Amino acid sequence: MGTILDYRKMVEQPWGRMFYEMIYNQLDFSGDKRLRILDFGAGFCITADHYAKDHEVIAVEPNEEMYSLRVKENEYTLITQGLDYLKTVPDDSFDVVFCHNVLEYVDNREEILKQLARVVKPEGVLSVIKHNLYGRVMGSAVLADDPQAALDLLNEVPEDSMFGNRSVYSDELLIEALSQDMTLSETYGIRAFFGLSSNNEIKSKKEWYQPMLELEIKASTMDEFKRVAFFHHLVFRKNGSFL
Ligand SMILES: C[S@@+](CC[C@H](N)C(=O)[O-])C[C@H]1O[C@@H](n2cnc3c(N)ncnc32)[C@H](O)[C@@H]1O
Repeated sequence: MGTILDYRKMVEQPWGRMFYEMIYNQLDFSGDKRLRILDFGAGFCITADHYAKDHEVIAVEPNEEMYSLRVKENEYTLITQGLDYLKTVPDDSFDVVFCHNVLEYVDNREEILKQLARVVKPEGVLSVIKHNLYGRVMGSAVLADDPQAALDLLNEVPEDSMFGNRSVYSDELLIEALSQDMTLSETYGIRAFFGLSSNNEIKSKKEWYQPMLELEIKASTMDEFKRVAFFHHLVFRKNGSFL
């Protein structure tokens, strides 16, 4: 298992940066008015910092090892708590809420989702990025050359990680948990291809990076590639009030 420092170094690599570039492409708010954005489980605050260029952003991150290594080029507010903070936030507070690669590590997923849905404004956006089982299986079997880990994933053997137990949950479970308040507007794939080759040398070349990004963006909306993408990005809209 890698350390948090390894993870921090990884996000600076081309294959780390591409993950975030995909998010910025899928959630382009550059033409919008100044939005209120919450990033729950913000990690190194890379996404929070990016949107803080144009918007008011609150980054929520309880792990000191993570937030002490955060990116801080733009102004945003860091809250060093988790669910306890969410519970203090009034209903309908944010135009956009992010929860990216967090719910795999929590044991109170439903409760967190309920709170996240509550704090989104009517017609606002909840963006959840999550592991996709079949993409993870491809990653273990191909990039990591570890077919046993791939089999373990398919056999639902419990996994350990740097953030404790990790569990892959289905898109359907997420959609069902949010069905009272939220309507799914889009599902994208992320990392259908860029995490499959271990030839890292080529990845720092422009000739690899630009067409790979273009390919990923194209594949991210195609069902055939979504099924084997490492991540799924589900974008929900909160139902409006029908008064
Ligand atoms: C894989 S990192 C993702 C970080 C960031 N969202 C990103 O996309 O770069 C998972 C993050 O979830 C945070 N996390 C885990 N359990 C949490 C909880 N119960 N409440 C808030 N954050 C949590 C971890 O501390 C970690 O920073």
